[in-house]
Amino acid sequence: MRVLVIGSGAREHALLLALSRDPSVSALMCAPGNAGTAEIAQQQAVDVASKDAVVALAQSFEADLVVIGPEVPLVLGVADAVREAGIACFGPSAAAARIEGSKAFAKDVMAAAGVRTAHSEIVDNPGKLDEALDRFGPHWVVKDDGLAAGKGVVVTEDRDAARAHAADLLENGHPVLLETYLDGPEVSLFVLVDGENVVPLIPAQDHKRVGDGDTGPNTGGMGAYTPLPWLPEETVTAIVEDVVKPVAAEMVKRGCPFSGLLYAGLAIGKAGPAVVEFNCRFGDPETQAVLALLESPLGELLNAAATGTLDQVAPLQWKNGSAVTVVVAAENYPGTPRVGDVISGADIEGVLHAGTKLVDGQVVSAGGRVLAVVGVGDDLTAARDDAYAKIEQIKLPGGHHRTDIGLAAVEGRISI
Ligand code: GLY
Repeated sequence: MRVLVIGSGAREHALLLALSRDPSVSALMCAPGNAGTAEIAQQQAVDVASKDAVVALAQSFEADLVVIGPEVPLVLGVADAVREAGIACFGPSAAAARIEGSKAFAKDVMAAAGVRTAHSEIVDNPGKLDEALDRFGPHWVVKDDGLAAGKGVVVTEDRDAARAHAADLLENGHPVLLETYLDGPEVSLFVLVDGENVVPLIPAQDHKRVGDGDTGPNTGGMGAYTPLPWLPEETVTAIVEDVVKPVAAEMVKRGCPFSGLLYAGLAIGKAGPAVVEFNCRFGDPETQAVLALLESPLGELLNAAATGTLDQVAPLQWKNGSAVTVVVAAENYPGTPRVGDVISGADIEGVLHAGTKLVDGQVVSAGGRVLAVVGVGDDLTAARDDAYAKIEQIKLPGGHHRTDIGLAAVEGRISI
């Protein structure tokens, strides 16, 4: 099977590595890729938002399967175009990708499917902002209703900060979603879906704030670990039965069946799981940890989802132990990152590339999240030690990372 992976992050690097371990995968291409993906796949520049360009590339590569990593091409209908060209595609249609692309659509689906989530209101008129803010608090959750790469969310107890973020979004023409705050530790559960068939992967936890101790602004994700020692197996079953299956069925009922990876972001409160958000693709940086433990052949799984045969796949096989991803970010991320810094010491197994490129034979930073360092071990402590030992060897001027990925779980500070 010849597989084309669209995207350029550490998520795509992790997908390519797992695909390269699958004996049914005979050739790999990544577009546009980064300095790390170029080591394991053919590489080609492409505008990922262009249906024509992606289809043309898939045809010239003679791809049997196209795997679309990021949300933007999915929301724009690139998966539809690939399928219309007669090539199997892992990723939902534009209609189904609204589960991530429009938070209002996601709320509507959840209401119809009877899924617990935060109460929310859309504000699109600046004149109505203050009265809407008064209906929320003492924690304000302010989201961009469209795509914002995780950085459009502000969670704060400071009404002025909530107001400033909402006003800024409105000024830039983005409707604002205000939500009630959901209490409890967060879980990312990735589920392969084709229509009403669902196959959950192991749960992970992201660390969204930039600083240790969950301080500072939200990011696209600074680290993750899997599995979650504090999450009972029956809670995962409840998420699949009470959240994922009803949502998948509701999407089928609406004529926009989901095909691909449905990412359920949940808060596990005292009353049980509630949905914080859905995404229409693999999460980053959780994927890097989850796939480090996957033993089943990834190409076969993604192809089964793409071809509507997920009901025929064997039960998933996982390595014992734990995996941890720690993101190394550029100076000033999640603000405008400094780019062009030379990276050294990163040529280590488990170091995945995100914002990197090759310039005159040197690997330099080219984005906010630069590397994702994956550690594995017999338990979470060993996996953390492995990841942080690798980070010690890496040099990125101005680079920063969190030192506490998975630490609260190791110290038994997470309870539900
Ligand atoms: N880890 C957050 C995301 O992928 O959206």
